[in-house]
Amino acid sequence: MKAMRTQVGIVGAGPAGLMLGHLLHLAGIDSIIIEDRAQDYVIERVRAGVLEQTTVDLLNESGVGSRLQREGMFHDGIYINVFGNRRRIDIAALTGRRITVYGQNEVVKDLIAARSSTGRPLLFEVADVSVHDLESEQPKIRFTQDNTSCEIQCDFIAGCDGSHGICRASIPSNHIRIYERIYPFGWLGILADAAPSSPELVYSVHERGFALFSMRSNAVTRLYLQCAPDEDVSKWSDDQIWDELLTRLHSNDGWKPNVGPITQKGVTGMRSFVTEPMRYGRMFLAGDAAHIVPPTGAKGLNLAMADVWRLSRAVASYYQSGCDELLDHYSEDCLRRVWRAQQFSWWMTSMLHRPNTGNPFDSRRQLAELEYVTNSRAAMTSLAENYAGFPINE
Ligand code: FAD
Ligand code: PHB
Repeated sequence: MKAMRTQVGIVGAGPAGLMLGHLLHLAGIDSIIIEDRAQDYVIERVRAGVLEQTTVDLLNESGVGSRLQREGMFHDGIYINVFGNRRRIDIAALTGRRITVYGQNEVVKDLIAARSSTGRPLLFEVADVSVHDLESEQPKIRFTQDNTSCEIQCDFIAGCDGSHGICRASIPSNHIRIYERIYPFGWLGILADAAPSSPELVYSVHERGFALFSMRSNAVTRLYLQCAPDEDVSKWSDDQIWDELLTRLHSNDGWKPNVGPITQKGVTGMRSFVTEPMRYGRMFLAGDAAHIVPPTGAKGLNLAMADVWRLSRAVASYYQSGCDELLDHYSEDCLRRVWRAQQFSWWMTSMLHRPNTGNPFDSRRQLAELEYVTNSRAAMTSLAENYAGFPINE
């Protein structure tokens, strides 16, 4: 058995785990990050694209924002296409804040580079990960690497291992409460080598279902279609995907996405999920390990960043002053933001996807809501404020 010791043992090298390791490093706190996947897999996994101003500020202030400043795409607004009528919500004018499109995999790449330059451990392709003695002062992480059993003795464990990780699953069920809602649809997402034909995102409501136009760079478009949660993506030819996208994104002002070769496709189910509290003993959950939002509000990655900002401050305060206060408030403080994002993500999802109740009342009510949200300054301000995100300490 190979024995190691650190102040904070971090399980998972997604955005939450890597950013936590980075913030702890800046505070002079030692950590070991372990990840069960290979580095290339973690970097290439295509996921989020929209960063709140708060997330961008955090990346800049912590010294990992220089490529983002050069390559990020700064957006002042979004479009909502209501059955062919495309209307713009001017987020910058309504809130004074803007959003940035910069792929999650680029954020992960920048954080891995920052970690490597510190020389602090970041171990990929570990197996059989488990956590132990969580209620004690010396919790432990065990795993194997290259057929060697390893144990890390920690002061704290951070469970940053996403929605299917082992950390949350290691908490006795009578110590946590789970809140969950599964939606009766998913998103079929593609990446295409096509220049974005709109400088801003287009969320589109159509009789055949929701579609979203987004992007990754001046040459790459990211698009999504509402589909069944268990949709078999292999049954869709590229031509069928484009036909459906062009139909659902159709806009009476003549706008349409540019078509190009599809380079990646996949289906994601949609759910809302919250674990309370986000702590058990000396193990703290952060990011998707603690909560999931449907992607319609573009909040998941941003919540993960806000969690680890809070956790790094709480841990730093513990080492500086021996005081547990911020650690004791961690879960409650995170959950306020989490529930606000849950509400917003649920609302955006319900408003933009076609109701499948079969009751015409629901369709007419949805149209009235969309008319209100895209015409009333008060309603647009509310959407814009939530979409652009709140200050990190709220
Ligand atoms: P993850 O990214 O899931 O990272 C967890 C890591 O832990 C992974 O690398 C995993 O391999 C590792 N791991 C798992 N189990 C173990 C184990 N046993 N041992 C060691 N390591 C383990 N969010 C936004 O903010 N904006 C968006 O626009 C947006 N769009 C999205 C679009 C889609 C299609 C999807 C699916 C998600 C989207 N999200 C968006 C959500 C966002 O991608 C997630 O919220 C984000 O990845 C959470 O980061 P995380 O680090 O908490 O978890
Ligand atoms: C994305 O670009 O992947 C994206 C954008 C907005 C969302 C979800 C995903 O709401």
